[in-house]
Amino acid sequence: MDLQPSQQSQNLQSFPFSILIRRELRYAVSFFLLLVSSLFILSLVTPFDSQFLSDHLGFLSQILPTNHNTSPGTCDYSYGRWVRDESHPFQPYTENCPFLDPGFRCSQSGRKDEGYRTWRWQPAGCDVLRFNASDFLQRSRNGRIVFAGDSIGRNQWESLLCMLAEAVSNKSRIYEVNGNPITKHKGFLSMRFEDYNLTVEYYRAPFLVVVGHPPHNSPDQVKTTIKLDQFHWYSKHWVGADVLIFSAGHWWNQDKTVRMGCYFEEGGKVNFTMDVMEAFRRSLQTWKSWVLENIEPLNTHVFFRSYSPVHYRNGTWNEGGLCDPYLEPETDYKNLEADPVNNLYISESIKQMEYENWKVQFLNITYLTEFRKDGHPSKYREPGTPADAPQDCSHWCLPGVPDTWNALIYANLLAKGFRTK
Ligand SMILES: *[C@@H]1O[C@H](CO)[C@@H](O)[C@H](O)[C@H]1NC(C)=O
Ligand SMILES: *[C@@H]1O[C@H](CO)[C@@H](O)[C@H](O)[C@H]1NC(C)=O
Ligand SMILES: *[C@@H]1O[C@H](CO)[C@@H](O)[C@H](O)[C@H]1NC(C)=O
Ligand SMILES: *[C@@H]1O[C@H](CO)[C@@H](O)[C@H](O)[C@H]1NC(C)=O
Ligand SMILES: *[C@@H]1O[C@H](CO)[C@@H](O)[C@H](O)[C@H]1NC(C)=O
Ligand SMILES: *[C@@H]1O[C@H](CO)[C@@H](O)[C@H](O)[C@H]1NC(C)=O
Repeated sequence: MDLQPSQQSQNLQSFPFSILIRRELRYAVSFFLLLVSSLFILSLVTPFDSQFLSDHLGFLSQILPTNHNTSPGTCDYSYGRWVRDESHPFQPYTENCPFLDPGFRCSQSGRKDEGYRTWRWQPAGCDVLRFNASDFLQRSRNGRIVFAGDSIGRNQWESLLCMLAEAVSNKSRIYEVNGNPITKHKGFLSMRFEDYNLTVEYYRAPFLVVVGHPPHNSPDQVKTTIKLDQFHWYSKHWVGADVLIFSAGHWWNQDKTVRMGCYFEEGGKVNFTMDVMEAFRRSLQTWKSWVLENIEPLNTHVFFRSYSPVHYRNGTWNEGGLCDPYLEPETDYKNLEADPVNNLYISESIKQMEYENWKVQFLNITYLTEFRKDGHPSKYREPGTPADAPQDCSHWCLPGVPDTWNALIYANLLAKGFRTK
């Protein structure tokens, strides 16, 4: 968080002073430094003024050493602000992308405003490398990119399909290997990019570990159990992927587990008192063991995407909660929620895996996503949704916020030398 102030002071120190400065000049320089530092402070405290800075103060970039850290692997993309970018169409694709689920096509479902599609994420200490679909495809040739997680993971997978498809002129040369349509009703979908011998796959595994029948002689209240020490059986298909993107979060709560008769099981025994977050933490240990045992560290890039915040206001999702009034990102920092404990557990597990050649990364998108209360389908859900259905303030309209997550994956992959021979 305090990344920028320290860079700022470095910038000021490296400012080219001459050794002997006359008094007048010294005053002028001090005034200038004061101006510059106040501008930096301004840019720290006001999130949405970069237009102002770049429009009116472009001269500074010619005088100051650039603050853009382009050396690979050292930038913290997680912290920054959203800036409006209407200067050029920077959206990577349109809603006509054939791989989008109807639930994410917000304009086609009646959403009229478009402003939510004009924001670009600007990290505090660097720029995000521009997403280059044909470069990503070429680097991924003969490979597999695999998403495993819940429906937010599918949201992100569809975003990546559309981002990559922009570099393929004949879209019929991208198809689902089993001929299945892209819908939320499938647990497994694999899109083949024929020209690149590449598949981009999605596996629905909201808990990442096995969910199944309870042990024999369990009380009737136990309908199913989440086996915290058994990794999902889909995982045999994840071995050998070049890029593996995990996510989890939205199912790890009381409502979707214990209150539905779905209890936690460990060592073949149901534990009736285990807290959901403790269960999540333990499932991550199972995830970690699986990665360490099954993944070739030199060949596979593993990401665990952080929690994607929801934005139900005026009630929970099932009690009239809504987000449709929001047409712009959050501007009041006081309304941002604290980093969820999920993230702490994920990043702790990843820290325990920091061996020399491992390419396991925590993709921390929570803070940037927290601002985007304007990016959800809200009441513009897929055609056929009953009018009184709850709003969707957890998934994302596409094109939209998950495009940024994928751009960060691309940037992180390149920083780690993804498939460069
Ligand atoms: C995720 O990023 C945000 C913004 O930089 C930061 O405040 C938070 O601590 C990070 N979370 C973890 C677990 O590192
Ligand atoms: C994208 O990558 C391709 C292939 O590496 C390259 O030829 C092209 O110039 C890149 N485009 C941009 C805009 O950088
Ligand atoms: C396609 O990629 C696979 C590896 O995923 C490789 O075994 C196969 O030989 C490739 N096919 C062609 C035609 O290059
Ligand atoms: C697009 O690809 C499909 C499938 O390979 C092929 O049948 C069709 O002729 C191609 N269309 C064009 C315009 O190249
Ligand atoms: C259930 O899990 C908790 C940790 O959340 C642990 O302290 C407790 O001993 C476990 N109970 C049994 C019966 O194993
Ligand atoms: C949210 O609830 C408050 C208080 O109940 C109400 O005044 C407000 O109109 C509600 N907002 C929306 C958008 O329904």
